[in-house]
Amino acid sequence: MRTGLNLVLSVVVVALLGAYAGLDADPNVPNWEFLPNMVRSVPADAFAPSEQLPGGQVLLAPPAGTIPRGLPPLPYTAAPEDAVRAGVELVNPYAADDSAARARGGVVYANHCAVCHGPTGLGDGPVTLRGVPPPPSYAAENGLKLTDGQMFHILTYGQKNMASYATQVSREDRWKVILHVRLLQQRAVAQAAAPAAPPAAPTTSPAPPQ
Ligand code: HEC
Repeated sequence: MRTGLNLVLSVVVVALLGAYAGLDADPNVPNWEFLPNMVRSVPADAFAPSEQLPGGQVLLAPPAGTIPRGLPPLPYTAAPEDAVRAGVELVNPYAADDSAARARGGVVYANHCAVCHGPTGLGDGPVTLRGVPPPPSYAAENGLKLTDGQMFHILTYGQKNMASYATQVSREDRWKVILHVRLLQQRAVAQAAAPAAPPAAPTTSPAPPQ
């Protein structure tokens, strides 16, 4: 019994000594790798071609009928009658005085909309100087009449010369940018109603009488 145990222990000791002797003294040199495939996996780039996957590329189309989690489909199409229905049914989930939502809306506007609609929403963005058909001013009669839901429909499905921004601007951001459009409308209306500025005072003193 005792001899057997001693034998086993000596084999263990010899095995450990052997393993220790095989270790490299330099800690930067890797020793025997356990599961090397996990250390050096073969990365698959999303848009790379693939011989293994159906469709011949790494990125697979979602199976038909699936929807992203937390993003139920909107019950509308791009049709004008759906734009009208969206205008009646949809309500902006963000309050007009939600300062965080307004701030985010301003950022989205500057990044995605000002290029065409202009920084103050008059429809004079820089690309309109280079041949892109200018959008109407938000403060024009039609713009002032649009409900939040109609604007959301325009941003989601596009309208005539304006393309859909559904892939670039998330649903939350679309509602937030509408708050910014409202702010621009209020400013433009207030400016139009303000009395004309008095003529600027002369900056140089008049010449003394001769
Ligand atoms: C490529 C230029 C372009 C960009 C970028 C753009 N728009 Fe437009 N937008 C237009 C044009 C052109 C129209 C007019 C479409 C039409 O004739 O009905 C328009 C129309 C609108 C209208 C309706 C105005 C009205 O009086 O009928 C709203 C609201 C609007 N855009 C909001 C936005 C917002 C918010 C963004 C940013 C997320 C944005 N747009 C980005 C070109 C653009």
